[in-house]
Amino acid sequence: MSERTLVLLKPDTVQRGLVGQIIDRLEKRGWKIVGLKLINMTDEIAKLHYAEHVDKPFFPGLASFMMSRPIIAMALEGKNVVEAVRKFMGSTNPQEAQPGTIRGDFATDIGRNLIHGSDSVESAVRELSIFFTEGELHSYEREIDAWIIES
Ligand code: RTP
Ligand code: MG
Repeated sequence: MSERTLVLLKPDTVQRGLVGQIIDRLEKRGWKIVGLKLINMTDEIAKLHYAEHVDKPFFPGLASFMMSRPIIAMALEGKNVVEAVRKFMGSTNPQEAQPGTIRGDFATDIGRNLIHGSDSVESAVRELSIFFTEGELHSYEREIDAWIIES
């Protein structure tokens, strides 16, 4: 079933010039970009987005890192895209991430793990509404989809 997920390319991705390579991989996988922007995360957005982590010891460091430089927010659409993007990213701790994943290929530190992806369909709906208005999410046809998706 086609669904949508939120992907964030964290400040380390933008600073290291890896935005293009990561988007290239996402596109080649076949997922459709339905929303995309460069933004600064605010304290308010950090608390909303990381609501499940606000009381954890790593939250202050995580929030200040995420607010330190611009990030890319993307909405991706595709079959089973929420779970598939999580696999594509690799384990949260890059030391445990498999080669071939974003974190397994490009990262070494849990606090510099480059990418965020929603962890469930429910989280995706909630997180997409934090970063995108309805009007910023686009529905459109791609002729090539007939060569990517059987039905
Ligand atoms: P994300 O939310 O970024 O997609 O990553 P995730 O689901 O794999 O990880 P999550 O448990 O939701 O944690 C969110 C982010 O917080 C940082 N973190 N640091 N120092 C630590 O123990 C620790 N634990 C988590 C990571 O940057 C992680 O991506
Ligand atoms: Mg998470």
